[in-house]
Amino acid sequence: MGARSGWLYCAAAVPLLLLRFLAAVSASVEDLDDSFKDNRKDDIWLVDFYAPWCGHCKKLEPVWQEVGIEMKNSGSLIKVGKMDATVHSSIASEFGVRGFPTIKLLKGDLAYNYRGPRTKDDIVEFANRVAGPLIRTVPSQQMFDHVQTRHHVLFVYVGGESTLKEKYIEVASELIVYTYFYSASEEVLPEYVTLNEIPTVLVFKDSTYFIYDEYEDGSLSSWINKERFEGYLNIDGFTLYELGDTGKLVAIAVVDDKNTSAEHTRLKNIMKEIAKNYRDQFHRDFQFGHMHGSDYINSLLMDELNVPAVVVLNTSNQQYFLPPKHIESTEDMIMFINSILEGTVEVQGGDGILQRIRRVIYDAKSTVVSVFKSSPLLGCFLFGLPLGVISIMCYGICTADTAEEIPTKEMGDRELTDEGSDEDQEEGSIKEITADASEGEQAEKNVLDKKED
Ligand SMILES: *[C@@H]1O[C@H](CO)[C@@H](O)[C@H](O)[C@H]1NC(C)=O
Ligand SMILES: *[C@@H]1O[C@H](CO)[C@@H](O)[C@H](O)[C@H]1NC(C)=O
Repeated sequence: MGARSGWLYCAAAVPLLLLRFLAAVSASVEDLDDSFKDNRKDDIWLVDFYAPWCGHCKKLEPVWQEVGIEMKNSGSLIKVGKMDATVHSSIASEFGVRGFPTIKLLKGDLAYNYRGPRTKDDIVEFANRVAGPLIRTVPSQQMFDHVQTRHHVLFVYVGGESTLKEKYIEVASELIVYTYFYSASEEVLPEYVTLNEIPTVLVFKDSTYFIYDEYEDGSLSSWINKERFEGYLNIDGFTLYELGDTGKLVAIAVVDDKNTSAEHTRLKNIMKEIAKNYRDQFHRDFQFGHMHGSDYINSLLMDELNVPAVVVLNTSNQQYFLPPKHIESTEDMIMFINSILEGTVEVQGGDGILQRIRRVIYDAKSTVVSVFKSSPLLGCFLFGLPLGVISIMCYGICTADTAEEIPTKEMGDRELTDEGSDEDQEEGSIKEITADASEGEQAEKNVLDKKED
């Protein structure tokens, strides 16, 4: 009897607790509606614009709850919300929502787009960076040491009011979506830093520092865009896409990270050494790094690389270079780099019409292979028929078309646009700032199609 009522009590309590739990969770992520536009006023908002039918949105949902909880628990001023953009479509389009899910940090009349990896830590880091001050002042040497331990790459302005400072602020307001901007007085910098003139801008990375030189480096914004990466990177599809902005060639050691054999580690070490010791010679034209596994790169090149391998990619026109012989030493790699610069290595790939046709065939082939792998019977049924072949070709052509359309939109996003300035938006037009990135699989397409527009 006692046990029975106990059980009943439990049965009643569990849903109650669950409800309370859900209430606590939902309180950290607010459900936004049309009133949001007028009510958001002075607050900083991190908003997920979603559509109920979208798969990526569903995948983001638990992450978004975690983001909300973390923001709340850390006492952050940033409010986290989500909006069903299909129900509140007019307001979503006013915020420049074009795809799902769209993550934006809204601060005054600025909207910062987030398109990095959709993990809690990455999103929270982005929100805190962008919501904070544009230029962070470092007051003391200890503080500087602390800041240095926290960021792999950081930019610092040294000096008083100047036109350089104005430019620095201007660049920061756009590139804060990627990296941190600090200002400090000369005394606060580590002792190993020698400055020839002030005002100046420096970047601290790769356990050293580099000084911006307007004469050699061109505009401050292009310099910062190039220097915001460490000299040697662990490259994935997402990084590769981001690197497209630098206009550099990307030299990659394609290795199996888990394979400890000498060949694999040697290639990585060669790349590291060149990135470090030959920086002055090559850093303007090259980014160095390694990539784990060859799947991604194979589909990019439509080729089968024998891992470990070295490949140099031109992300701006999808061309690539393979070394004519095995890279055994740093000297071999330097010779290879120089022959690329001199134009004596055969160029492969590209974005010409033949390559696009190859891409359609390659994609169709991969589709067939993957269907056969997952279900041979279905494969036979589908592809044994000529009809099947025709449908694949149609599929290939259709996807090729859409692949070309996506980046057009992406590129639109990348610019600072006065969203809807010539539309029905008189008061408070929203300035959009984009942190470029996207889903891994999307990133590949973007690298491939970056040139398209
Ligand atoms: C490691 O790489 C070497 C050289 O490519 C290869 O022969 C070997 O089988 C690999 N080992 C493992 C465990 O994959
Ligand atoms: C990379 O592509 C760009 C754009 O087509 C081109 O201007 C540049 O010369 C290429 N770089 C090399 C080394 O081929």
